[in-house]
Amino acid sequence: MNDHEVNIGILGLGTVGTGVAKILLTQQELLKTRSTLTFRLKSIAEIDWETKRDLNLDGVQCLTDARRVISDPEIDIVVETIGGTEPAFSFICEALRNRKHVVTANKALIATRGRELFKIAKENGVDLLFEASVGGGIPIIKGLREGLVANKIEKMYGILNGTSNYILTRMHQDELEFDQALKEAQAKGFAEADPTLDVGGGDAAHKLTILASLAASGMVDFNALYVEGITAVTKLDISFAKSFGYTIKLLATYRSLANGLDLRVHPTLIPNSHLLAAVNKELNAIFVKGDFVGDTMFYGPGAGERPTGSAIVSDIVDLSRDLLLKEGEQVSNRVIDPEQSVKVVPISEIYNRFYLRFFTFDKPGVLSKIAGVLGENNISISSMVQLETHGKDNYVPIVLLTHEASEAAMEKALQEIGKFEFVKENYLRLRLFEDLG
Ligand code: HSE
Repeated sequence: MNDHEVNIGILGLGTVGTGVAKILLTQQELLKTRSTLTFRLKSIAEIDWETKRDLNLDGVQCLTDARRVISDPEIDIVVETIGGTEPAFSFICEALRNRKHVVTANKALIATRGRELFKIAKENGVDLLFEASVGGGIPIIKGLREGLVANKIEKMYGILNGTSNYILTRMHQDELEFDQALKEAQAKGFAEADPTLDVGGGDAAHKLTILASLAASGMVDFNALYVEGITAVTKLDISFAKSFGYTIKLLATYRSLANGLDLRVHPTLIPNSHLLAAVNKELNAIFVKGDFVGDTMFYGPGAGERPTGSAIVSDIVDLSRDLLLKEGEQVSNRVIDPEQSVKVVPISEIYNRFYLRFFTFDKPGVLSKIAGVLGENNISISSMVQLETHGKDNYVPIVLLTHEASEAAMEKALQEIGKFEFVKENYLRLRLFEDLG
């Protein structure tokens, strides 16, 4: 670094990289006022220079070979906005080994390979920051790491996937079918290249892994999370949920229990009176309860060029503090400790309230048999609705809400109920949001 000048190289000029470049090229004065440093976008590596972008890149080296950025001795900070696993992972490792700080928006990589990456960063005395990996422009990573540093995090509930939230909102508000709402979300540009990551819950699970690792100061194993997406939720379930006073959201849950963390992503019925029920369209929100601060909520755009660019540049400015340190001084330990593992409680040991929806053949005794199995498994029903008919085949939808019950018991009961010849295969189990205190 020259005195007061920070040189930045970007790998990948897609939506996010373009946002970062725009900010670095247009907000220089503002950033200087706030940090005393000049942030200079020195080079960009991108394989597709054909695509038209609304950017004036005069004075910026436009390259196709990422290694020219990573190995440039003048570059202080490498921004990885390629996404996906490879070559992003190799490029980040190489940049860290070249003792360059790295900023990334790559949630999949941090969630699944974070342990390796943080170790390499530590060994090389540099930082790997990832504010943009969760909640787009919402400063939730800094919120947890700095703003709430004095707190043990007791609970977090997040709406972390804009695509799923957009789909569910359109299904709720405008009675759209799932497929139509997904097409709209894709057209708006916030869906992943592979939308199964959005609607299957994987993207939200990556983000929950990152938040949980930060909150628990260790590395959570992504594969230990229980993950269920929104593809089985129908318009009918949405209208049932509405009639009970709930809104269905894809919710990421973090609860600190005596024997570990309760971590899961699944569609959840949230009471309409809760703030999270009012988070609509592609917006994200994270509700955080700390032992000293109490309840807080972070809300805002979870994706897109400008919000994600804003988050990445906040990391760049943050890193400038490290760059001002003298040679040999250790950077502050602001990341997840890769040596610490965190225990996740298996879903079978968790207790929840449930929403159950069955299509059953309309004949005497059906309801008592279903209720019987639930009772035998110590599951108590709190409400029930049966509609007159559904379709022309004499199957009727039955919806039950339960009191709190064990997940293991519910799984066992559903296996038994699913065997009844009068129950159609496509039954659905959802969980209710219960802030049990
Ligand atoms: N596909 C993601 C979403 C983009 O829909 O939220 C932001 O990570």
